Amino acid sequence: MMKNRILVFVFILLAIITASSFIGMHDQKLLQIQMPTNFPPPVYDLSINPVTEEGFGLGRKLFYEPMLSRDGNVSCGSCHQQSAAFIQAGHDFSHGVDNQHGRRNALPIFNALFYKTFFWDGGVHNLDLVPVNPIENRIEMDEKMDNVLSKLNNSSSYRNLFKQAFKVDSITSKEFLQAFSQFMGAMISANSRYDKYVRKEGETLTAEELSGLRIFEEKCRSCHATDLFTDGSYRNNGITNDFRFDKGRQEVTLNEGDKGKFKVPTLRNIEYTAPYMHNGSLETLEDVLHHYTNGIKPSDTVDSVFRKKDGSLGIDLTANEKKNLIAFLKTLSDKEFINNSIFSETIDR
Ligand code: HEC
Ligand code: HEC
Repeated sequence: MMKNRILVFVFILLAIITASSFIGMHDQKLLQIQMPTNFPPPVYDLSINPVTEEGFGLGRKLFYEPMLSRDGNVSCGSCHQQSAAFIQAGHDFSHGVDNQHGRRNALPIFNALFYKTFFWDGGVHNLDLVPVNPIENRIEMDEKMDNVLSKLNNSSSYRNLFKQAFKVDSITSKEFLQAFSQFMGAMISANSRYDKYVRKEGETLTAEELSGLRIFEEKCRSCHATDLFTDGSYRNNGITNDFRFDKGRQEVTLNEGDKGKFKVPTLRNIEYTAPYMHNGSLETLEDVLHHYTNGIKPSDTVDSVFRKKDGSLGIDLTANEKKNLIAFLKTLSDKEFINNSIFSETIDR
């Protein structure tokens, strides 16, 4: 009798262990993504592709996977480095396969859930479609999606990870792109000193920084709008008037009036993302402000905001105002995001 009871007990215990490992394998753990209260509503609908621990972890592994490139040397992480807010530190044009140079400065990756369009010219409208671009770009990763999928399907460890994240036996572009969006979607940067100040979380700004904020509201916020610090529009801020190599937005719309216009970039984490502008032509924030006061190059599409009453181009800023503006821009640095190890590459997690 006693023996039977023990047997029954052992049987139930085994059943529980088997069931829980079964559940563990097929029921993914949802990750809660906090939407910052000072941000506009997200554009990407996470309810269609909920972020799970398994999908996020897989997206991260893919992000740092050099196998996605033709020569096996370049991963997304090669050009998007966490310590530089996910741009390629110190490069005006990023380096891809065979060490070829692209023609544009990398854009940082964070708060992608909130953007309507991607890339300097807005050529992609859906976060899910972003990875196809660098993978198939001849200079960046120069690989074909079909090839990437067959490399992944030939790897038993990737097949396993996709099974855990999406319950599939073979990997298609759908799950591949969903994993990327889960990882990039979870990359939210909203914990700078400025954020804690506007959300009244006990942070104060110095008199210099507050004065910089006031100048910013008056002279910069029309384009670098909302707490995303971009209105998502395309403008020409007079960085160049030679559009032979890069026509910007016109390459997407084919509209002459869009020649030389580029997506207004966010200014969050700007301290980490030098050099600046689509062509990486400005080294420092001092150079950027010098550009806005003295360097705007005239062309047909240069933004009318920069036209002064006397007809010349530029934004008036005194030396002191420039100093305060830079102090303010540095309050947009989010050290927690830059150092958050959940976004970093580590072997054997
Ligand atoms: C060779 C360097 C390089 C590689 C590799 C690379 N990128 Fe990029 N990335 C760039 C550059 C340069 C831009 C800006 C290009 C443009 O706007 O035309 C960019 C832009 C982006 C953007 C747009 C951000 C925005 O605000 O519009 C995202 C998102 C992105 N990359 C994700 C990825 C992912 C995911 C991968 C891997 C599948 C990847 N990148 C691989 C260089 C690279
Ligand atoms: C008319 C719209 C407009 C106004 C006003 C404006 N900007 Fe910009 N800003 C842009 C655009 C567009 C770019 C990207 C241009 C390019 O690369 O060709 C940019 C780029 C920048 C960059 C470089 C970002 C990067 O990641 O490379 C900084 C920094 C910057 N602006 C700061 C400011 C400051 C500070 C002010 C106010 C003094 C200001 N901007 C006013 C439109 C504007």
